[in-house]
Amino acid sequence: MLGIDGLTVEEITMLLDLADAYVDQNRKHDKKSDVLRGRTVINLFFENSTRTQASFELAGKRLGGDIMNMSVSTSSIKKGETMIDTAMTLNAMHPDVLVVRHPDAGAVKLLSEKVTGAVINAGDGRHEHPTQALLDALTIRRRRGRLDDMTVAICGDVLHSRVARSNIHLLTTMGARVRVVAPRTLLPSGIERFGVDVFHDMRAGLTDCDIVMMLRLQTERMRGTFVPSIREYFHFFGLDHEKLSYAKPDAFVMHPGPMNRGVEIDSDIADDINRSVIRDQVEMGVAVRMACLDLLTRDISPN
Ligand code: NCD
Repeated sequence: MLGIDGLTVEEITMLLDLADAYVDQNRKHDKKSDVLRGRTVINLFFENSTRTQASFELAGKRLGGDIMNMSVSTSSIKKGETMIDTAMTLNAMHPDVLVVRHPDAGAVKLLSEKVTGAVINAGDGRHEHPTQALLDALTIRRRRGRLDDMTVAICGDVLHSRVARSNIHLLTTMGARVRVVAPRTLLPSGIERFGVDVFHDMRAGLTDCDIVMMLRLQTERMRGTFVPSIREYFHFFGLDHEKLSYAKPDAFVMHPGPMNRGVEIDSDIADDINRSVIRDQVEMGVAVRMACLDLLTRDISPN
């Protein structure tokens, strides 16, 4: 699973339906099953992560698999070994699934061509983060009962965001209307080609939308200056109650995390349980990753 780009409506729906069932399993006292019994999953993260890594680890454990977290900071990568050599070394230990995050777009696909097991992209540069888009979709579907006919405003640092790219692919495939709202400096050129409407003003972009999806300013990917100052950015693009009042009265707010309070989102909104579904997103994340691990390890050999 390298990205959302190329998945069909049926494939996305099947993943979300399966994840829905796992949400129920995760709310039970006994959360464990043996779907991944005898299977090995290796988490290989070349970039920092809290939510995604923890959630893949819990997902694998709840399905009864053996999960190993490779800590790149203490691995031989630090001694000069290439990513591919590291992957081939791990591959020789017969993992069934490699979950990989890497700072370079395309790195996970390259790695997937060298190993024998399934590979899940846990975020490659600014390219894709498919399980994030799936957990966002599950959050929306459980709240609204549907994905089509929704107007979703994706706001902030779209340029550097793999979350935005995967969400644009998924939401447009499923029939939602997608808007991107950002300063010109934080939008990739030609973004309209992806079937989104472009806004440079938050109030206009949020008007009558059903869902407001905020993105972090990804300063670690920036080469140079993209916004005049954090103060000015918050003034024009930070989500507060006043700007949110332009959206539909029952519109809700999402954020993939990690959040920078006072930069792209006001604390009042982030903590408002009537508007923010950020904690639901984290819960859905475990279920979606269970669905992906389950589907990718099913035995499909003819004998
Ligand atoms: C995102 C990521 O790493 O792409 N975080 C996440 O997986 N929840 C978004 C971000 O880093 O801003």
